[in-house]
Amino acid sequence: MLKVKPVSAERLPELLRCMPKAELHMHIEGSLEPELMFALGQRNGISMAYPDIDSLRRAYVFDNLQDFLDIYHAGTLVLRTEQDFYDMTHAYLARAAADNVLHAEIFFDTQTHTGHGVSVDVVINGLHRACIDAHAEFGMSASLILCFLRHLSEQEAFECLEQALPYRDKLVGVGLASSEMGHPPEKFARVFARARELGLRLVAHAGEEGPPAYIWSALDVLKVERIDHGVQAMKDPALMARLVQDRIPLTVCPLSNLKLRVFPNLAGHNLARMLDAGIVATVNSDDPAYFGGYINENFTQTFAALGLGAQHAYQLARNSFEASFIDEALKRQYIDRLAVTFETFE
Ligand code: ADE
Ligand code: ZN
Repeated sequence: MLKVKPVSAERLPELLRCMPKAELHMHIEGSLEPELMFALGQRNGISMAYPDIDSLRRAYVFDNLQDFLDIYHAGTLVLRTEQDFYDMTHAYLARAAADNVLHAEIFFDTQTHTGHGVSVDVVINGLHRACIDAHAEFGMSASLILCFLRHLSEQEAFECLEQALPYRDKLVGVGLASSEMGHPPEKFARVFARARELGLRLVAHAGEEGPPAYIWSALDVLKVERIDHGVQAMKDPALMARLVQDRIPLTVCPLSNLKLRVFPNLAGHNLARMLDAGIVATVNSDDPAYFGGYINENFTQTFAALGLGAQHAYQLARNSFEASFIDEALKRQYIDRLAVTFETFE
């Protein structure tokens, strides 16, 4: 591991902003800013539940995950055409590129949209075209992870996977999102087994609000390669030992955890303790339009609150590339660029 030079507290935010990084946990529907939401609503002749952008933003106060999911689902109603999905994804990728994200793995779901009468091809083709264009426009790579909604049934998840099969080559993997409590990973054991047979990479949200037992079953029953959130793992020393030993990455989202009241404040977040314990943690934005910041804000605010330094920054950025689903050659290229940034930063 590169031993990095210390960087002053004044210069650290600049280093965090300019360092190359990968984002591995963000829901594209959660990047829909109120401005674009209102523009799409107008374009599609959909009346909005809030009279203006400011009153919508004022509604972004949440007590827990479910509170947020209710507002988030209402926001998706404006998405109707392939161009809408393209515009939303292009806006996120432009924003991510400005934050020096070299690679993004984007979560999306189709069940929300098919529930509104929008077909799977509209969703996937819009997202995929934006990922292709981002490569040409911003020089970044991006791939798509289809999330099943865990509050819906196993049967519905199977139908979702079936409908996505014609677009298999546009997906890197599958995940599991939405209301965690009462919907343990094992509910989707057979769907994940099928996705695995199809050669899809596997991830799942677990231990965001739910207990360590959900992380165990995501690993042992679903056989996922990464855990999304996973912050409740610290309650279980045997689980921590497993995550460290098997180098299972956790995609941590500090501002999300703050806004959904998983931790009372950022200073109380367990990211620093996770890194100290040897966990392969990464920093991500989850739903940046709702939680008050894109990936660089997650880095700068969390580093300030926890007193983290340049060595942690390098570790987290390196982890993000190591934990990604890109091929080894590209991984090495990105990690080399990361090293150059740290070696030349003054
Ligand atoms: N969908 C969008 N954001 C989510 C989160 N933080 N947890 C679970 N499902 C989500
Ligand atoms: Zn998430």
